[in-house]
Amino acid sequence: MATKKTAKKKPAPAKTKAKKAPSKEMATVFIMGVAHEVPADATIMGAIEYVGYQIKRGAGCREGFCGACATVYRLPGDYKIYTGLACTTIVQEGMWLSQLPSIPSQKPIYDLNKLEPDVATFQKLYPEVFRCVACNTCTKACPQDLEVMDYIQATIRGDIEAVMDLSFDCLSCGLCAIRCPAEIVQYNVGLLAKRLYGKYLAKKSNQLKKRIKEVKEHKFDKEYKEFMKMKKAALKKLYYERDLE
Ligand code: FES
Repeated sequence: MATKKTAKKKPAPAKTKAKKAPSKEMATVFIMGVAHEVPADATIMGAIEYVGYQIKRGAGCREGFCGACATVYRLPGDYKIYTGLACTTIVQEGMWLSQLPSIPSQKPIYDLNKLEPDVATFQKLYPEVFRCVACNTCTKACPQDLEVMDYIQATIRGDIEAVMDLSFDCLSCGLCAIRCPAEIVQYNVGLLAKRLYGKYLAKKSNQLKKRIKEVKEHKFDKEYKEFMKMKKAALKKLYYERDLE
């Protein structure tokens, strides 16, 4: 996450803050080397904002869906690097948070129409997958508790359906990739598997075909126009009260 400190609040020096005994309701966390007292039930994102930083980048949905707020942290007396989403991970006493540089993933450009749904496609586009040492670091880093290593192994076997299935709930936060010693960008591998599966392997849905035809025939134009005129609150109500299959 990229943050910018607002002019209003100034963090107290680390020494002064660190001396205070944390109350039950508050926790001491270190943000970019400075100790701060924050509500003990705050999320990492909430704590950062509580002490006066303005989050300019690396935040989206704030509900654990978009994967924009991938975060790493350390805990006192523990050598491990922990990972989580800043918007849903609750702070812990002594948590140490630092700003991460952006980590762009290498992504090959491909034309889905020219690809074959087989293992050779992955060998060509993501050869590093075949360097997987099965260390399981990616799985441990996943804030969605996905079996990331299993879907990388499924990729090696050419089981595209399993890759699609196991990576289905991936948010593309990138925490697996930044921890991978083989430099695999797991979430992009999963994305390719989902695309290949959707285009070449999934059973075609007659229902979807029918609905697309209806949309093209302007069957829902009247409803769309009504939605466009509705207030946000009414739209929200309609959305949350919709029928779910
Ligand atoms: S801001 Fe969207 S997952 Fe955290």
